[in-house]
Amino acid sequence: MSRLQQMRQQMHNGNIDAYVVMRPENGRYLSGFSGGETTLYITLEKALLLTDFRYIEQAKAQAPEFEIIDAGQDHFTTLSEVGQQAQRVGFEGDFITYVDFGKFKDGFSQAELISLPDLVSHLRSIKDSSEIELIRQAVKIADMAFDEALKTIEIGQTEEEIGLNLEFSMRRAGASGGSFDFIVASGIRSAMPHGTASSKRVQSGEFLTMDFGAIYQGYCSDITRTVFIGDPEDKHRQVYDTVLAAQRAGIQAVAPGRTGKEVDAVARAMIEKAGYGDYFGHGLGHSVGLAIHEGPNLNKREERLLEPGMVITVEPGIYIPNWGGVRIEDIVLVTENGCEVLTKAPKEFIIFE
Ligand code: GLY
Ligand code: MN
Ligand code: MN
Repeated sequence: MSRLQQMRQQMHNGNIDAYVVMRPENGRYLSGFSGGETTLYITLEKALLLTDFRYIEQAKAQAPEFEIIDAGQDHFTTLSEVGQQAQRVGFEGDFITYVDFGKFKDGFSQAELISLPDLVSHLRSIKDSSEIELIRQAVKIADMAFDEALKTIEIGQTEEEIGLNLEFSMRRAGASGGSFDFIVASGIRSAMPHGTASSKRVQSGEFLTMDFGAIYQGYCSDITRTVFIGDPEDKHRQVYDTVLAAQRAGIQAVAPGRTGKEVDAVARAMIEKAGYGDYFGHGLGHSVGLAIHEGPNLNKREERLLEPGMVITVEPGIYIPNWGGVRIEDIVLVTENGCEVLTKAPKEFIIFE
């Protein structure tokens, strides 16, 4: 079944006769079209891709299952014209703006509009073999960039320079860009889970956390490694070992039939037992695909069961204010029996003299 056919199945099950897609990743997933400014209008019979003059040829080549419509800059007028017959219309209530929703509602005054943001994201959560292959490649590119970073990091470099080198390495290896604003955080900045690269220079006696990823043919990777510069104290080793043990336990716990909540609890319990529970304030992981953060997650609230084909991060951390922090993040593929770790970069305690 094509993705469009799967989508129609979902619509049929939900008694929806039309669905409007505006989120770019959902549009790309269903149609194959990777350009900008697109709206999909899908019914059980029609599949329309609305775009503008700049993208018509590209859309024809990339989205053969869709009829391509030049809707100019005003997709809502075209939508209201093509959607005259629709009674129950699904849409992405988590994406459309308030202003656009007003226009949408005016154009579909005859219809019931139903916010169903999970319809496409549920399909997207189970990756097919072509998607897994692209994610593997994105992961490999990030692994390689880490390997190159290990050869070039020096005391006195700024976090920004380190981030730039990571990006250069990945672009050279075929990435179209980074999958988010890289986190390169050293010293006490490493206690900020999302400390984006700054002009701070790396010094001896510090942790250096690097969280980065590539986009390869639309698919994201996400990796975190924390290394030490200089001579670590016992506490540095203890915190690192605790995070690594929790990360390994989290990976061991990933299996079909488990909830994200259960897996999170396994890793969290190890950090709590070591006395650092208050310093691990975020979830254990998130799915990755066309977007860097997708569902399902691994966190205290996630009830969804893991299934084969999901691709998810495992990334515990300990962050101690005014001291420093450690996070270790891999991407795993949920398999029939457990999971396969896609990230291959080393994660033993690495020390730069
Ligand atoms: N890059 C942010 C994260 O690891 O989720
Ligand atoms: Mn990350
Ligand atoms: Mn992540």
